[in-house]
Amino acid sequence: MTRFENPPASDQSIIDAIVDFQINLMKQSDPTVRGQHPKINGCLRGEFRVLDNLEPDIALGVFAEPRTYPAWIRLSNAFGTDDRQPDFHGLAIKLMGVPGEKIGNEQQTQDFLLLDAPYFFTGTVEALLKFMQQKVGLMVQGKTPQEQLQALSVDFPNEVERFVKTVRPAPAPPTASRYWSCAPSLLGDQAVKYMLEPQGFDSDASGKPETSVERDSQNYARETLVASLASDSKPTVLNFSIQKQENQDSEPVEDASVEWKTPFTRVAELTIAPQKFDTSEQDQFGQNLSFNPWHSLPEHQPIGGLNRARKIAYVKSSELRHATDGVPLFEPRPNDKP
Ligand code: HEM
Repeated sequence: MTRFENPPASDQSIIDAIVDFQINLMKQSDPTVRGQHPKINGCLRGEFRVLDNLEPDIALGVFAEPRTYPAWIRLSNAFGTDDRQPDFHGLAIKLMGVPGEKIGNEQQTQDFLLLDAPYFFTGTVEALLKFMQQKVGLMVQGKTPQEQLQALSVDFPNEVERFVKTVRPAPAPPTASRYWSCAPSLLGDQAVKYMLEPQGFDSDASGKPETSVERDSQNYARETLVASLASDSKPTVLNFSIQKQENQDSEPVEDASVEWKTPFTRVAELTIAPQKFDTSEQDQFGQNLSFNPWHSLPEHQPIGGLNRARKIAYVKSSELRHATDGVPLFEPRPNDKP
């Protein structure tokens, strides 16, 4: 356990219950797809360029020297298949060719998993477990999403408020949004969070969901992404920034529902060149990838309760879907082709 963490006595038993709950849900629905973020809006090639002249307390791990890592980026909806419905959206980055021993295995990858919300609607594993159990109970009773939220707001008023504030229709294209890690990680001997934003993004809109877009297609996230990466378009460039914890009380590690307020420092640029990505081979490759915040150098170790739960949840979800599909688990190398 790192010096930043302070788990409750029941931490491990709650985490075990979350993982069992998640895996049972997958078994009862479709064990061939991810337990969360099943819908892929695109699996893209990108380049992650670490900036020059970073301060010594930032130039650690993958940020240690200015260099460019080839990357895969998977864009997803957290729950649903209809992009017009309110949802969370994921942007997962997998850097390849990363030297150094990793926390979990010997692979040459470093993953960063981000959501289009600046904080997570349940801050602790205890709240997450109770919320999930009650929500699934209401789903089984056939309640609509609106009825579920109404019923949940009795026991979880703050969680429901945060949920409603942060879900929204898919950004169009999904690369035109801000994404946050929500949960913290180490950067050497400090705690940080990450944020990714398109260059030139209007900072007045910071953290607020964009206005909902009324569109005809339930797949408009992918369709707008295809158009934005057409051969005659400009590369999409996003800034990857870190935010250091400055105050342990107002910027807690054990409660991911609190948005940190420290300013962000730009540390890298993610460039997505025009490309054709919407083939069934590349989609299948993207579905077969395993992103996990614990695919990490020790310098970037994920911390806090939700991350301790994720350490097991992602492995079990990935193992189950790969075993059901008969596809071996793998980590991609820079020259691998879908
Ligand atoms: C705290 C902030 C969180 C963020 C930023 C986040 C982000 C993401 C993203 C972007 C993905 C899709 C990865 C991909 O494209 O393959 C994902 C998948 C997933 N998430 Fe989270 N997540 C968070 C919290 C959680 C929590 C608390 C749990 C449950 C313990 C969880 C369970 C999962 C699972 C099971 C998957 C699918 C893994 C797989 O089969 O490969 N996530 N998450």
